Amino acid sequence: MHPAATQSSQATIETFQKYVIPNYTRYPVCLVHGEGSYVWDAEGKRYLDLFPGWGCNILGYAPPRVVKAIQEQVTHLIHVPNTWYTEAQGKFAEALCTRSFGQAFFCNSGAEAIEGAIKLARLTGSPQGRHKIITFENSFHGRTYAAVTATAQPKYHEGIGPLLPGFRYAPHNNLSAVRELVDKETCAILIEPVQGEGGVNVPRDEFLAGLRKIADENGLLLIFDEVQTCMGRTGTWFGYQQWNVQPDILTMAKGLSGGVACGAFIAKTEIAANLKPGKHASTFGGNPLAMAAGLATIETIEKDKLLDNVAVMSARFREHFTKLKSELSIIRELRVRGMMIGIDLTIPGTPAVGKCMERGVLVNCTHDTVIRLLPPLNITAQQVDEGAAVVSEVLREMARGA
Ligand SMILES: Cc1ncc(COP(=O)(O)O)c(C=O)c1O
Repeated sequence: MHPAATQSSQATIETFQKYVIPNYTRYPVCLVHGEGSYVWDAEGKRYLDLFPGWGCNILGYAPPRVVKAIQEQVTHLIHVPNTWYTEAQGKFAEALCTRSFGQAFFCNSGAEAIEGAIKLARLTGSPQGRHKIITFENSFHGRTYAAVTATAQPKYHEGIGPLLPGFRYAPHNNLSAVRELVDKETCAILIEPVQGEGGVNVPRDEFLAGLRKIADENGLLLIFDEVQTCMGRTGTWFGYQQWNVQPDILTMAKGLSGGVACGAFIAKTEIAANLKPGKHASTFGGNPLAMAAGLATIETIEKDKLLDNVAVMSARFREHFTKLKSELSIIRELRVRGMMIGIDLTIPGTPAVGKCMERGVLVNCTHDTVIRLLPPLNITAQQVDEGAAVVSEVLREMARGA
């Protein structure tokens, strides 16, 4: 038993079976403690986590500066509503906007950030009678009604209609399809710079620049959903900086506060001005705890030079998996952008998750065939080698049909 555990995994699972709505498929262990890239279950088994917190634990588990910032903040103020000013919110907004642009609005999750961005786009477009939004096949924007409608994947729409009116879906990487969908009622184009849940789909060269051009020519807003790509995930502070294409609105969440629930969007100042008092709000949004954690996350990325580490470790993962691809015909494609890694297989990938877990390594499988890794920005060379060795061993075994 791990010292942080008070009961076995099985005892916790039994409590869940009685009292927690079973809407998630969960792995059959209870996690009790984490440090850096490692996490332990109640029985004391250690895992190397290459997908910590679904990308939220961008600095791994219990990052020291974030822990300390939370401990200090919690003794002063945990929550203060947005009818007051707080130092932490102002400082975190400044830290984000000086690394990007515009002004910030804070909320608590990715879907909430998307909801706010969509409302701002419609508020901006409504004087010209514009409300339609173009999004992309295989996108993922969250589970609330606007966010799930924006998510152009039929499996997420089944049984919950009617959806929000006014959304149009284009194939990814296809500029002429986008041009055909634009009409006088269109107000915005919404896209993830790198599609995450959709399979780590990197846009082809000039695609994002092409969307910027279409938006400019037609008076539309370009919104980047950077819930997964923010805070250095791709090797720059924000994904848009990889392609040098600046959006008008940018959403963030996941790693934004080093694992503490936090969401935000930033908007160019002239567009942000359309969000007048009373038009939008979030009770917990911008609370001092999440803001202090966010500031400590930025400080850690900067002081520990983690953007440089992402470049080095990304190249190291790429080298391991490029070699593996040349060896195994079950690997269709390798897609890597910083600490976003997708290994697209010709066979179902889900069995790899369980096989890696048995060997003490945590990975994800998305879109049936894509092994997805979102390692923390501070992963070490030894951990990259350790993780890649296990993933390689498992994929070799699957290629042999074992
Ligand atoms: C790109 C993107 N947008 C939005 C969301 C929704 O975020 P949340 O689950 O915090 O609502 C996700 C979650 O995976 C995401 O990857």
